[in-house]
Amino acid sequence: MTMITDSSKRVIPFRPNDAKRVGQGCFYLDDITWLNSANIELGDRVKFNSGCWVNGYGGLVIEDDANVGPRTLIHTANHITSDRDTPIAFQGWDSKPVRIGRDAWVGMGCIILPGVTIGEGAIVGAGALVTKDVPPFAVAVGSPAQVIKYRFPDAEPRHEAGEVDN
Ligand SMILES: CC(C)(COP(=O)(O)OP(=O)(O)OC[C@H]1O[C@@H](n2cnc3c(N)ncnc32)[C@H](O)[C@@H]1OP(=O)(O)O)[C@@H](O)C(=O)NCCC(=O)NCCS
Repeated sequence: MTMITDSSKRVIPFRPNDAKRVGQGCFYLDDITWLNSANIELGDRVKFNSGCWVNGYGGLVIEDDANVGPRTLIHTANHITSDRDTPIAFQGWDSKPVRIGRDAWVGMGCIILPGVTIGEGAIVGAGALVTKDVPPFAVAVGSPAQVIKYRFPDAEPRHEAGEVDN
């Protein structure tokens, strides 16, 4: 067993070859599972807390200053399942790229499903299961994640008269 403390935690810089693109000042804490990294692009100062699981198969872009909390999981592809006669594991993958916008904050223990875009400055609450896009500067929580508010009043979507949210 390992005890990680404030004094023993390791801040590990991403190296230039750890992904298709690695910006300045990107790091993770202690450990990360980092798969299909040739399809991952990191902007500047992207941070992962400890124990994240990240699969870039279908394409993953994380923009400047985005912050991913501990034990968050990100995948970018689904199994193809359309053939009844072939085991799912042999049907290949359907790529669905994920994007995490500039200065977004993804809390601890989240699951980001394939195909999702998390907008600039958005917050994804701890434990959220993100199945749909999160608008810029929205705060989304829960399973499935739902927008509960916006960080700034002027970030709220404007509706035409008579238009309703679905
Ligand atoms: C999303 C978050 C930032 C919202 O904080 P906040 O603006 O102070 O929100 P509040 O505490 O006022 O909560 C607002 C409502 O959302 C609910 N809520 C807040 N966070 C939630 C979450 N993660 N999952 C489900 N519901 C949540 C609250 O219960 C509350 O519901 P109510 O209106 O029915 O009472 C915060 O709750 C959170 O999840 N932080 C992540 C912490 C973390 O992961 N830290 C790791 C550092 S990288």
